Amino acid sequence: MIPVIQFSNVSKTFGGVRALINIDFEVMPGEVHCLAGENGCGKSTLIKIISGVYDPDPGATLTLMGQEYETLSPAQARRVGVGVIWQDHALFPEMSVAENIAIEGFVSSKSKLVRHKKIKDVAQKVCERLGVSFELDALVKTLPIAQRQLIAICRALVSDVRIVFMDEPTASLTQSETKHLLDVVRTLTAENVAVVFVSHRLTEVLEIANRVTVLRDGQKVGVYDASEMTLAKLTEKMTGLTINPAVVDQDLSKNETVLEVKQISRAGEYEDISFSIAQGEVVGITGLLGAGRTELALSLFGMTRPEQGQIYLHGKEVEFKSNLDAISSGVAYVSEDRLSLGLIQDQSIENNLALTVLDKALAFGSLLSFKKKRTIVDHWIEELGVKSGNTSDAISTLSGGNQQKVAIAKWLATNPKLLILDAPTVGVDVGAREGIFEIVRDLAGKGLSILLISDEVSEVYFNSNRVLHMSSGCIQKEYVPARCDISELEDAIYGKAI
Ligand SMILES: Nc1ncnc2c1ncn2[C@@H]1O[C@H](COP(=O)(O)OP(=O)(O)OP(=O)(O)O)[C@@H](O)[C@H]1O
Ligand SMILES: [Mg+2]
Repeated sequence: MIPVIQFSNVSKTFGGVRALINIDFEVMPGEVHCLAGENGCGKSTLIKIISGVYDPDPGATLTLMGQEYETLSPAQARRVGVGVIWQDHALFPEMSVAENIAIEGFVSSKSKLVRHKKIKDVAQKVCERLGVSFELDALVKTLPIAQRQLIAICRALVSDVRIVFMDEPTASLTQSETKHLLDVVRTLTAENVAVVFVSHRLTEVLEIANRVTVLRDGQKVGVYDASEMTLAKLTEKMTGLTINPAVVDQDLSKNETVLEVKQISRAGEYEDISFSIAQGEVVGITGLLGAGRTELALSLFGMTRPEQGQIYLHGKEVEFKSNLDAISSGVAYVSEDRLSLGLIQDQSIENNLALTVLDKALAFGSLLSFKKKRTIVDHWIEELGVKSGNTSDAISTLSGGNQQKVAIAKWLATNPKLLILDAPTVGVDVGAREGIFEIVRDLAGKGLSILLISDEVSEVYFNSNRVLHMSSGCIQKEYVPARCDISELEDAIYGKAI
């Protein structure tokens, strides 16, 4: 059996940044090969070279299906069967689902009507093959991120692919959707298609991979059989560090109450929600997709309004008419969907930092100069360890995880009283996650109250004073990590679902 892909001596330099240094990489047919490594270690760059988006520095040998190339164009890569699902999906929001999936093969087709029917047929077939269903005429911009992800996968499979690259395909998916996706991956490998999979969720990596190539700072650490790897070993290879999580064992319920929510409801979203967060407390909310977590967060941030019940901040009832009201009352919200809500991709890092919301937030009560704002933001960027070249570069040149850090830094700079973190570590590597949670605990230690929303149970379990399990729009039960095992919480969430 010849490898689908065999690359040797691949390097890539961007200005002064050496993103990849002498990488050898090989993938066999039908194999699931994971690329693992911290944010900015070069995973996406390697994928961009393989798919012809970037040329490698001179001296590389690229062998695809036994054929050697010095450089590759995207068209060549596609022709030999390379399919890619990008980290940001790269879909056309104004086009329909069917068009996004299948239009590429029909651009030259003359008749619009014939084209429309054929596009739908092709799209339908791919959906069936993957066991997913969509309203094919719906515009992509109207769909949630989890569905866009599946559409991006369908699109890659329309042509006759031999190898599919998935760059963090599960980053925005919940665990049940992830299970579905992993089944899709198994379907592909059963057809002898190779899959190269990038994920920061290491349990998932070990579950799905045959082999794992680990990169660190642009260099290859090694390639390992997944069956011989453990979570701890993999983490160590990626970071050079050993991480031992411990629960937060501190009862802060006697502190002053910062947020109190009394029996709030919003039809079809959440129902009869009551809870409070004391000063310096981290309260976690976890549950499956559709549990109403984000809907609840949006109401606390003034993006929607509860139809019943009351919200109190420092004992005073608040009725936010918009998110600006919430911001001026000291509420900050790092959204789960940084790609569409948090950051503007074509804009520079510095412009993203001074986005309108932040501008207005910082301007409340005081007139801050741009320079002053920059100083505050630069401080947070440094605290969070954002790896960037120049702040005038477009935000899209930052690695996914570093973009997330910018999104968090932006809000920390508003000096909030209540910080809502909605899936704050989506796409963030294990080392940087620790960094973010260290900051979360540090901020809580300084008196900030934090609502931490995540579907990664371990994340809320290890970083919250209390955890609320939400399902079907209601809070089911409160757990205190210091007094219960993580499996109790996991069983409550997945026990009946699987
Ligand atoms: N177009 C570009 N211009 C300048 N620097 C770039 C560009 N693309 C990537 N880089 C830099 O190359 C390095 C590797 O980035 P890459 O996106 O490959 O990381 P990654 O491993 O995919 O990270 P993540 O897990 O955060 O997605 C980073 O330091 C990044 O800032
Ligand atoms: Mg990446």
